[in-house]
Amino acid sequence: MDNRPIGIFDSGLGGLTVLSEIIKNSPNESVVYFGDCGRTPYGNKSKDTVIKYAFQDIRFLLNQDIKSIVIACNTVSAYSLSYVKKEFNSIHILEVIGPGSKAAVEATKNKKIGVIGTNATISSGVYENAIRELDNSTEVYSKACPLFVPLVEEGWWNNEITYRTAQEYLLSLKEKEIDTLVLGCTHYPLIKDTIQKVVGENVKLVSSATEISKMINKIILDDNLTRDEKIQPVYRYYTTDSVEKFEELGSKILGHSIFSVEKVDIEKY
Ligand code: DGL
Repeated sequence: MDNRPIGIFDSGLGGLTVLSEIIKNSPNESVVYFGDCGRTPYGNKSKDTVIKYAFQDIRFLLNQDIKSIVIACNTVSAYSLSYVKKEFNSIHILEVIGPGSKAAVEATKNKKIGVIGTNATISSGVYENAIRELDNSTEVYSKACPLFVPLVEEGWWNNEITYRTAQEYLLSLKEKEIDTLVLGCTHYPLIKDTIQKVVGENVKLVSSATEISKMINKIILDDNLTRDEKIQPVYRYYTTDSVEKFEELGSKILGHSIFSVEKVDIEKY
């Protein structure tokens, strides 16, 4: 048994889609969530910058007495996983790309998988490599969708501009006759209805957020890290930008009101 919280971080609010799944799958767990909204998006930054940000974000979470870390950001996983695992080797670090790739390979029938993500995630080729390692007869078609993150952070989940943007990005993938599409960015589940409308009902959407939460639940059980069920779980939220904006959009994402978000000066870490 381990009553300490799980630490989760993302470049902004997208990682709350992972938290939302964790609340469903592991309702006894306490969580410390850190969203680097002041420096989002990470997906257009250089690899060095993303690694620097990831180290700072993890140092902040390690200060919160957590039992494990979830990188709820594909961009951070794509650019910095090997570096952070080497630097912070005394704590269990989980990421989103492995579970998302596995779920896509299991879901596809015609072995044509689409992957969408930030510029960083797509240019790193991590999903293609992970999927081909699992099944090298699979065709993988990738597309960077850099405007999706700002649209999501703006709260524009279902409007005409988001729909048009999705058409612009996704119609070429649809032409490849993919039957599975990996939402390779934790922000994207928030616009999944728009994405589904564009690619059509026959394409199965795989969310890296859902897949990682299933894995977390399994690891917590297997490693005997569960919390005492008699103690109420506690959720703490930290941001590097406006607390009010985090509370407003965060409440919308989680489907319940969140209060007492605290602002962090991440440059101290
Ligand atoms: N949620 C992050 C991801 O999964 C968004 C990255 C960004 O900030 O551009 O990649």
